[in-house]
Amino acid sequence: MKISIVGTGYVGLVTGLCFADLGHTLSFIDIDQEKIQLLKNKKLPIFEKDLDTLLQNNDFVITSDYQKGISDAELIFLCVGTPLLKEKLLDLTFIKEACKNIGQCLHRDQIVVVKSTVVPRTTEEVLIPILQDKSDMSESKDFFVVVNPEFLREGNAVYDFLHPDRIVIGSNGNVIKIKQLYHDFSCPKIFTDLKTAEMIKCASNAFLATKISFINEIGNICKKLEIDVYKVAEGIGYDTRIGRAFLNAGVGWGGSCFPKDVIALIRKAQEVNEKSLILESVVAVNETQPLKVLTLLKKHIPKLKGKVIGILGLSFKPDTDDIRESRSSIIVKELLKEGAHIKAYDPMAMENFRKVFPEITYCPAKEVLSSDAILLLTNWQEFESLKYTEKLVIDGRKIQKAQKDSTYYEGICW
Ligand code: UDX
Repeated sequence: MKISIVGTGYVGLVTGLCFADLGHTLSFIDIDQEKIQLLKNKKLPIFEKDLDTLLQNNDFVITSDYQKGISDAELIFLCVGTPLLKEKLLDLTFIKEACKNIGQCLHRDQIVVVKSTVVPRTTEEVLIPILQDKSDMSESKDFFVVVNPEFLREGNAVYDFLHPDRIVIGSNGNVIKIKQLYHDFSCPKIFTDLKTAEMIKCASNAFLATKISFINEIGNICKKLEIDVYKVAEGIGYDTRIGRAFLNAGVGWGGSCFPKDVIALIRKAQEVNEKSLILESVVAVNETQPLKVLTLLKKHIPKLKGKVIGILGLSFKPDTDDIRESRSSIIVKELLKEGAHIKAYDPMAMENFRKVFPEITYCPAKEVLSSDAILLLTNWQEFESLKYTEKLVIDGRKIQKAQKDSTYYEGICW
C-alpha cells in the first residue's frame, strides 16, 4: 500500500520504517530540515534498537512538501508530537498545523490515521473539523478518519511494532484499508469508534503507571518493615489476575508518555467535572519517590555540601538515550541545590543530559565509583558487572550485584 507518515519523531520513524520493511511504499513528511537531511543521508536523529538496519534496508521519499508527500498516499499517518503544556493540557499546535496542511491537499479515498496520542474526543472535536475545513470534502459524508494508537516501548519499539499484543482501530466508518494494512498481523484486533480508541491508549498508559506507583507505595511500606518488595511482587505476580509485569519497584516512572498521558487524562476528567482520585495519587507517589533516594543518602551523609555524589544512569530507562522526565534529572537538581559535586555516567544519555546540566562532571563508570556515595538510577544491564565492594550505594533500581557486593547498601524499597 502507499503510506505517508507525517512527523519523523520516535513513533513516525518506527511506524514508517516498519511498514516500509513489510513492503509498503513510503513517504515521510517533516518540517524540520535538519531531520530531513539526516534521513536523506541515511542517519537516524534518535537511537532505537534495530531501527538503523530498517533505515539502511529500505527506500522512501522524505520531504517537507505536503502536496508531494501525500499526493498518492492511501493512508496518511499523523505521528507528530503532542507534548504537555504548563496548563497540563496536551499541546495540539503541531498536530493542528499538520491537519491544516493535510486538509489542503486531501482528496477522496484517502484516509487520515491518528497515531499521535490525544485525549478522548480530540479527533472528532478538533482534528476532523480542521481536516475538513480546507478540503473539498467539507460537506462529504465519506470523510474517513481512523484512530490507531501506538503502544511502543522505547528501546523495544521495532519488536513491539512487529509483535503487538493487540491492534486498536477506532474509526468513523470505513475500515477496509486499515484492515488490509494489518491483515497479516495475527494478534487480536479491536474495532471501536474514535473516542474509545483514544481512551484505550490513555487508559493503558494510566493503568501501567498505576501499577508502578502501587508497587512503589507497597515498597515504601516494605522498606520500613524490612521486607523485600521484589519477593512480594513475585508472590502477587503469579496471580494471573495481577501479573508480574510493571511491578518493579524503584525510583519511579519517567519518559515521554506516562507523565504526560496521565496528567492529560486527569485534566480531561476535570473538564467534564470528574475527579480522578486514583490517578492523582499515582502522580503524587511518583513525584515523591525520587526524593526518597535523597533521604536515604542523607542518612549516611547528612551534609551533602562539598561531597562527591556519583550517579549511574541518566536516561529514563535502559536502552535509550532519552532523558525526558528521567528520575535522575529531579535528583541531580536537588543535589546541586544542596551544593554536592556530581560525577555521572550513562552508556547512552550523557550527551543529552549535558545539554540540560552542563555543570556536572561526566566520566566513565569506574571514575563514578570513586565518589563518596553512588546512586543507581537506571537499570542498565552493564551496571550488573561493576565492582561495588567498599562502596556506599543507594539503589533506586535493584541492581543485584550492588546489593550483593557493596559495603554500605540501601535499596529504595527493599
Ligand atoms: C510506555 C508504554 O509502555 C508504551 O506502551 C507507550 O505507548 C509509551 O509509553 P516507554 O515510555 O517507552 O513506554 O517506557 P516503559 O518501558 O513503559 O517504562 C516507563 C517508565 O516506567 C520508565 O521510567 C521505567 O523505568 C519505569 N518502570 C517500568 C518502572 O519503574 N517499573 C516497572 O516495573 C516498569
